[in-house]
Amino acid sequence: MRILVIGSGGREHALCWKLAQSPKAEKVYCAPGNVGIAKVAECLDININETDRLLQFAKENHINLTVVGPEAPLCDGLVDAFRKEGLIIFGPDKSSARLEGSKSFAKMFMMKHGIPTASSMAFTEAEPATHYLKDKFSVPCPGIVIKADGLAAGKGVILAYNLKDALNALDQCFGGSFGDAGRKVLIEELLIGEEASILALTDGNTIIPLATSQDHKRAGERDTGPNTGGMGAYSPAPVVTPDLFKEIDEKVLKRFLKGIQTDKLYYRGIIYAGVMVTAAGPKVLEFNVRFGDPETQAVLMRMKSDLADVMIKTAMGRLSEVILEWTDEPAVCVVMASGGYPEAYKKGFPISGLEDAEDEGAVVFHAGTALKDGKVVNNGGRVLGVTAKGADIKAAIDNAYKAVKEIYWLDCFFRNDIGRRALERK
Ligand code: AMP
Ligand code: GLY
Repeated sequence: MRILVIGSGGREHALCWKLAQSPKAEKVYCAPGNVGIAKVAECLDININETDRLLQFAKENHINLTVVGPEAPLCDGLVDAFRKEGLIIFGPDKSSARLEGSKSFAKMFMMKHGIPTASSMAFTEAEPATHYLKDKFSVPCPGIVIKADGLAAGKGVILAYNLKDALNALDQCFGGSFGDAGRKVLIEELLIGEEASILALTDGNTIIPLATSQDHKRAGERDTGPNTGGMGAYSPAPVVTPDLFKEIDEKVLKRFLKGIQTDKLYYRGIIYAGVMVTAAGPKVLEFNVRFGDPETQAVLMRMKSDLADVMIKTAMGRLSEVILEWTDEPAVCVVMASGGYPEAYKKGFPISGLEDAEDEGAVVFHAGTALKDGKVVNNGGRVLGVTAKGADIKAAIDNAYKAVKEIYWLDCFFRNDIGRRALERK
């Protein structure tokens, strides 16, 4: 099988790493890939938004399976373009990708199909939204969530605990801080609880959950500081007890499958539900139409099944033939980031200790790295995802941090408490 992966982050490194292990994978390409990916796949000088060139490459090189990593090309209709040419591709089409690309579309989908979620209202004008907020805060209120409707690179969600902050958030959205994404705003009930990431494969006929995981969204220890793309992850997530897992399967995944069937949405890929475990049960915070980053790094470390086989069967509508197998050993991914991330940071510092870290038994997935004068340097906000397994969660955490300690560059930072919630549950 000849496989093309699209993307250049830690998630795509993990996908290429796992796909390349498949006996069925004759060759893995990645467009555009990164320095780490180049060790397991051939990287191409094609960007994720160059649909025509991606198509041309896939046709000329007899690609049997294309896998799309990030949401942007899915929302832009890459899957539609490939399908039109009869090519096999893993991911939802443009219409289905609205489940991530439009928060109001996702909300309507959830309401229509009985998927538990936070109550919310959509607004396209500031005045009624302001009235609504004033009304909400006129009685005791734990807080409110303001969301720009469209894709805002993970930044369009603001939690506000008082009226002043809520009105500020509204101003930001309608004032253009999130571009077109903020033309429409959702005001949502604030949910209280612990989050878990529920990823599942679906081909529109069958839905199969992957191992559970948990992200660490805030930049600072004990979940303080600004939101980021994710500072670390672990799998499994013990907050999802077997009973809760059953409930999520029934109320979220099965209803999701029925929903896409009823609404005739073409979907052959990953659905990722961000779930808040509240006192009133699980509620979906958001849908993503792709693998999570850094959850994928931890989850794929635990997968025993042949990912190439699983993905091609999903893309061909034969997911019912798949049985997923996992190791019981937990996995932990610690993200190492550039100083200042998620705000401004400096690039171009040489990174040392990459090999020593892997000698410790970890896998170092690259995200924001580049080569400069033959040396690997930091070139993005999230730079590396140092991932390790262990006999139990404590051992996995220790193994990951042992490897992290081998790596250094000027300004680098990471959270020291990845996996804390899982440890505290023990
Ligand atoms: P979203 O992009 O909708 O997942 O929002 C990003 C993050 O904001 C989530 O992972 C949560 O941490 C937080 N969040 C979003 N919606 C809510 C909500 N209704 N209540 C509490 N936290 C939320
Ligand atoms: N880890 C969060 C995300 O992938 O959206």
